[in-house]
Amino acid sequence: MKRDILSVYDMKDDLEDIIDLSVKLKKDRSIKFSEKKILGMIFEKPSTRTRISLEVAMKQLNGHAIYLSPKDMHLGDGETISDTAKVMSRLLDIISYRSYSHDNVVELAKNSSIPVLNALDNKEHPMQIVADFMTVYEKKHRLNGLKLAYIGDGNNVTNSLLLGASIVGMDISIACPENHEPDRDIIYKARDLSLKTGNKIEIVRDPRTAIDSADVVYTDVWVSMGEESERAEREKLFKDYQINSELTDYADKDYIFLHCLPAHRGLEVTDEIIDGIHSAVFDEAENRIYSEKGVIYKVLS
Ligand code: CP
Ligand code: NVA
Repeated sequence: MKRDILSVYDMKDDLEDIIDLSVKLKKDRSIKFSEKKILGMIFEKPSTRTRISLEVAMKQLNGHAIYLSPKDMHLGDGETISDTAKVMSRLLDIISYRSYSHDNVVELAKNSSIPVLNALDNKEHPMQIVADFMTVYEKKHRLNGLKLAYIGDGNNVTNSLLLGASIVGMDISIACPENHEPDRDIIYKARDLSLKTGNKIEIVRDPRTAIDSADVVYTDVWVSMGEESERAEREKLFKDYQINSELTDYADKDYIFLHCLPAHRGLEVTDEIIDGIHSAVFDEAENRIYSEKGVIYKVLS
């Protein structure tokens, strides 16, 4: 049976094993596939980290990655997703898909006989969360029992963080303006997961409440890809949700700062925080390679 990773929820039974494997793959670069595996990467939106790290991950694993933009393939001009999925399944070993639409990612996976990885869509960014939690684990040596504060827009990254925190038993406090909460169905799933792990889930308006004693402080852009027409309105709405030194005074004194990147310096985070001693954003970006190796190794083994 092939295994897709379309949501962090698809790792509910082994997210921590995947993180352990990722840490191992970072230390031991000799672990590889015995025969070459080929990844096809469809990117409908731009990417720096996800594209590069997936390519490097495949090379390190004795594989190869092919970059596919809808401009260069028939997916963009009328071939159905299901036909594309069936053909790609005959030509490749695994597919990653960055899409504007979660439904399209689900449709591709449904019609593929090889694993499909969600490389970010409007609903989730599961590959990111493996790298994020791997970074927290490296810095804090545990995940369970920590508190993560997410300040800003309740977007695809927030949805995935919320599920991830509830799987590993990390308390999560999200501060966002009204109508910018994580998706309702994700909140329900996270609450359900938390019945097992006992993590606290909180959604508040005041960033100071969310960040209080937090071990991990996380933010993301206020304007995600595809929302550019709302930029002016969003920058006004989120202005009190900036991570700056006044706000981080409320966090635990040994907090780490994470951001999936790209960052908009001076908006969601100030230079002094992202370049400061608590920031782990570049370790986090580097860990995209190893966490993706972990996920790919797991689903193809
Ligand atoms: N964090 C992340 O996914 O970055 P890219 O958009 O550059 O891939
Ligand atoms: N929320 C952002 C994440 C970028 C990696 C977006 O979707 O654009």
